[in-house]
Parts: sequence; structure tokens; C-alpha cells
Amino acid sequence: MSRDRLQKELEEQFQWFHSHPELSYEEYETTKKIKELLKAHDIEILDAPLETGVVAVIRGEEKGPVVALRSDIDALPIQEETTLPWKSQTPNKMHACGHDFHTTAIYGTALLLKERQKEIKGTIKLLFQPAEESSLGALKVIEAKALDDVDVIFGIHSSSQFPVGTLGITEGNITAAVDTFQIKIKGFGTHGAHPDAGKDPIIAATALINGLQTIVSRNINPFDPAVISVTHLEAGNTWNVIPETAFLEGTVRTLSPKTRAYIEKRIREQTEFIGKAYGVEAEVIWIAGPPATDNDPEWTEFAREIARKQGLGIEKPYPSLGGEDFAFYQQTIKGSFIQIGTGETYPNHHPKFEVDPAALSIAAEYVAELGIQAAARIK
Ligand code: NI
Repeated sequence: MSRDRLQKELEEQFQWFHSHPELSYEEYETTKKIKELLKAHDIEILDAPLETGVVAVIRGEEKGPVVALRSDIDALPIQEETTLPWKSQTPNKMHACGHDFHTTAIYGTALLLKERQKEIKGTIKLLFQPAEESSLGALKVIEAKALDDVDVIFGIHSSSQFPVGTLGITEGNITAAVDTFQIKIKGFGTHGAHPDAGKDPIIAATALINGLQTIVSRNINPFDPAVISVTHLEAGNTWNVIPETAFLEGTVRTLSPKTRAYIEKRIREQTEFIGKAYGVEAEVIWIAGPPATDNDPEWTEFAREIARKQGLGIEKPYPSLGGEDFAFYQQTIKGSFIQIGTGETYPNHHPKFEVDPAALSIAAEYVAELGIQAAARIK
């Protein structure tokens, strides 16, 4: 398929995906559309027990290794503020992280691989993963056993850091481990004029928030990146009542597994002892998300080689403590997570975020080549 024809087809489908955003675990129309497009081109769809999301399969004539190429398909609860003719048709839902771009690019990869099926030494699986924004969608694919036979996996993400035609590639961590903590504080409610008759959960909550901010600054090596952000605090509902309870939650971002475990331990210790100091009951609920992405050095160098052969620019991405549930796959499958330059714009998750559709066919061709060459490389 010529670059022009591919680009035209992908732009048309991209506009559809962009204008029809669906949130995590609700990507029913998106899933239907992906299946329709694949079926129209006679591409096999794996019979996997997934409520949303799709795994397509392209089998070469020879038996061989299995390579997976991953996109994600969900959108965000954001009111779009772009002036695009194909802007979101649904209020408060928007593809503001480029997952519409990933979906369309990997669909393009599927079209190219279908044409080049005879060249494939082994099998290539094309993954359209649900619920990436929940941080846990990858687990649905793993539970569905859709990737049990996969030898190497590559994922893509649009990047507003790089122009179209440039990729961001790096070994090791490209995103951080993402954990959520929630803390429930139970005190004893009383009149605002008689604090001595109660146990004030607000004072305990604010002391705890200040305490938590000392963990990174006082307990962690400054060369080991980590973030603790308290992002949500609730207590009370009027001016003359000291409430019974307070609630706070936030996120922890780390790169090393040791630091990740240590911060969880310190949050639990501070909650217990600050709670005791203020005479309230305080409980931590810890919700573990994905670990840090960990790009395999050899496969990452290989991804660079293919990019060079395709005449693409290669840059080292800025480190980020953002999260990516692709990291769950990397716990058992080697691979690399690669950024695709989609032009400078507002940051991801901003209501005016845009990707340049010119990057669609470039990404599709690059990932198709990556898949074919990766399968050929495994003996
Ligand atoms: Ni994203």
C-alpha cells in the first residue's frame, strides 16, 4: 500500500476514533469499530475473553516466534477545547492522551502486515488494549491469557516532545511505578467551641500531610527519583462543627522497587504514629498500580536500528514519573516502549491537546517493520 493511500485511510479512521472517545472499561463502540475495520481486511481476531479491547493476529507461513505490538484505546473525562473539525462529539470525554492515534497507527500496522504476511517468520499479535488510563487495563489482557505465547513486545505512545518523524527511545525506565494511597481518619466529632470534648481529625490530617512531604525530602536519596502527592482532602461540612472523620488520598511515583516498598512502609508508619499522637484512628488503603516500565537494552537498541533504517530521527526522551501499564507486560515479556513524535502541542491530558495526523503512516510503517524484523531476529 502506498504511503499516500495508507495515510488517507488512517486519517479517515483517526478522525472517527477522535470524535468518538470512550472512557476506560467502556470502550464498546471503539472495540466494535476496530473489529469491523479488521474484518473488512480479512484480518484474524483472537477469540480472547475481553469485555473491551481487541487482539488481532497475523500468522506468517512459517512457524516461529510470537511478537506483540501494543496500542491502547481509551479516552479521558475531559471537555475538549480544540477547534478541530473532528473534535469529540461527547461532552466531557476526550482523546487527550493520543490513544486514538495509537489505535489508528496499529490498525495501519495490521494493514501493512497483512500485505506482507508471507515475509513474517512466526506470528504477530496486534493488541488494542482497554483501560490504560485506569493503570490496570493491561491486567485484563494478561488475565485473558492473550499474550502467554509472546516472545517480545513493543508499545508506542505519542509524544508532544518530538516533531513528526522523530522517535523517543531509551533503555531502562521510561515511566514510573504508580501507586495510590487512601487514608481514613476517624476522630470524635464535637462543637467548634469545645475542641477539648472531641478528637479533631482535621488537625491529624494536616499534620499527616506535612509529615508525608518529609518522606521524599528526608528519607530518600536525592539521586533516586520519587514523588508523593496528596491530591484529595475532605473533612467537615460547616463552620462550627469539628467533624468525626477526614479522608485524604494521593499518588506515589518511584523507579526502583526498593524505594517503592520503602515509601509504602514510611507512609504506613507515619499514619500509625501521627494518628496515635493526635488520638485518632488512621488507616491506610494501598492500591498498587503498574511498576516502572523497564525497556530491555538489546531490544531497545534493535528498535533504534530499525528507526535508523527507516530514516527516522532518534532522541532520548526526558525522564518522566508518569505511569504506563505497559510495564505489567514487561514483568514477564522482554520489550521496549517507544515514543512517537506527534508534534509540539499542549501537554497530554490538556483540553487543547492535539496530535499531528501526519505521524500516522510513519508510525504504522515503523511498527510493521519492527514486528517483521523482530520475528526474524529470534531464533
Ligand atoms: Ni497515554
